[in-house]
Amino acid sequence: MDDIKKRAIQVLNKNWRDGFTIPCEGLYPFQWKWDSGFIAIGLAHFNLERAKNEISTLLDAQWENGFIPHIVFHNDSDSYFPGPDFHRSYLHPKASKKYRSTGLTQPPVLGFVLQKLYQIAKDKENVLKFIKSNIDKVYANHLYFYANRDPNKEGLVYIYHNWESGTDNSPMWDEIINTMDSPEYTFERRDTSHVDPEQRPSKREYDHYLHILEIAKNHKYNDKKIAQLSPFLVQDPLFNSMLIKSNEALIDLYRLIGDENEKINTLKSWQTKAIKQFNDKLFDKELGAYIHFNLRSEKPIRMISSSSFTPLFANIPSEERADILIDTLMKRFGTKDQYLCASFDPTNEFYNPKKYWRGPVWINLNWILYHGLKNYRYLEIAGRIKKDSIELIDKFGFYEYFDPDKKRSIENEHGYGGENFSWTAALILDMLNEKT
Ligand code: DGY
Repeated sequence: MDDIKKRAIQVLNKNWRDGFTIPCEGLYPFQWKWDSGFIAIGLAHFNLERAKNEISTLLDAQWENGFIPHIVFHNDSDSYFPGPDFHRSYLHPKASKKYRSTGLTQPPVLGFVLQKLYQIAKDKENVLKFIKSNIDKVYANHLYFYANRDPNKEGLVYIYHNWESGTDNSPMWDEIINTMDSPEYTFERRDTSHVDPEQRPSKREYDHYLHILEIAKNHKYNDKKIAQLSPFLVQDPLFNSMLIKSNEALIDLYRLIGDENEKINTLKSWQTKAIKQFNDKLFDKELGAYIHFNLRSEKPIRMISSSSFTPLFANIPSEERADILIDTLMKRFGTKDQYLCASFDPTNEFYNPKKYWRGPVWINLNWILYHGLKNYRYLEIAGRIKKDSIELIDKFGFYEYFDPDKKRSIENEHGYGGENFSWTAALILDMLNEKT
C-alpha cells in the first residue's frame, strides 16, 4: 500500500504546474474544474498548501455572476482541441477578464471538497481560515445555478452540454445527439494523437459537441437563451447529487464558522426542495434506479449508468430506496467477473467496456460510490469497490479508465485513456487513508 501511495504522490508532483494540476500530460494540458476538486483532496494528504493553491487558482477564474468554468486555459497549448479560440468565453459580459476559459461548467464538487480539506488537514485553524475566505465564492456558485439553471423553479438544475456532465460520451446522450442536425465541421482533433481512437468519442460526436457550443456562442452564452434554444438540456442525477452534497457541506461549514444564518437558511430551503423533487422526478421504479431527464423533450432517459447511484453520496434516497438501488447495482454491475463499477449498464446493448464513458471503470465515480455505500452502511460492497480500485491501479497503473471485465483487463495488462492520470492518483490516496 505504501508503494501505491508513493507512486500516487509522484504522479501528482509530476502533473503540478505553477498554481494548478493538469489532469494528464498531453491529453489535458490545462486546469479542469471537477478534476481540480478531486485532485485537491489527494493533495491535502501530503501538501495542504498546494491543495489550497489548487482551489484558489480555480476560484480566481470565477465569473462575476458566480459561474465557474470547466476549463481554465492558463497557458497556450496546441496539444488540445477545442482550445480558448474556439470557446471564446469573453463573449459573455460577466466572464473573467483575467483568464480565458470555456463557457461550460462541470459538476459542483467544491462544497464537499472544502469540507474534505477540513477533515483531512491536521492544522484545522489554517484550513478554517482558508475556508472562511473562500466559502462565499462557492455559495455564489450555487446561487448562480439555482437562479439561472432551473427555469421551472423545481430545485433541479440543468446542464446544456454533455461536457458539463463529466460523463462526456455516455450512451445516455445518444438519442439527443443523434437527432441533432449538426453540420460537419473541419477541425483537427488532438486527443486521438494521444490515445487510441477506439477509446475516444468519434468525429461525428465531436461535430455535435461543437454544434451545441456554436448555438450557445451565437447567443453570447446567455443562460436564458440557452434554456430556450439549446438542443441539449438535461437534469442529470450525478450533477444534481454533487450540488446537493455540496449544499450539505456548505451548511456544515457555515455552522462551523458561525454567524451566517441567512445563508444557512437559504441552503436549507434549496435542499428540502431539491431532495424532494429529485426523489419524485428522477427515480424510475421499474428500473430500480435514478435516471436522467431530458428537459427539452420533457421525457425521462430510461437508462442506467454509474451516475444513477451517486444520490447515495448525497443522502438523497430513503433507506428503503437505497436497498432497491443497491440491488440494481449488484445485479447489473456487480457480478463476480466484473470490477466495480462500470460507468454504463453492462447489460445494455450500448455498453462498450473500452470507450471512455460508455462502460469503463472510473476512479472518481468509484470514490463517490464508495462513500455513498458507507453512508448507508453497505460496508461490504464499499470495501469491494475500494479493493477493486486498488487492484486495478496496482496491477495496471494510474490510468484514466479501466476495463470492467476482469479477464480482459488481466490479459491486456493495462487500463485505457491517459496514463498517470491525476484524479486516479489523488482519490486512491484518499481511499487508502480511510479505515474501512
Ligand atoms: C475532453 O476533452 O474529452 C474533456 O473531457 C472535455 O472536458
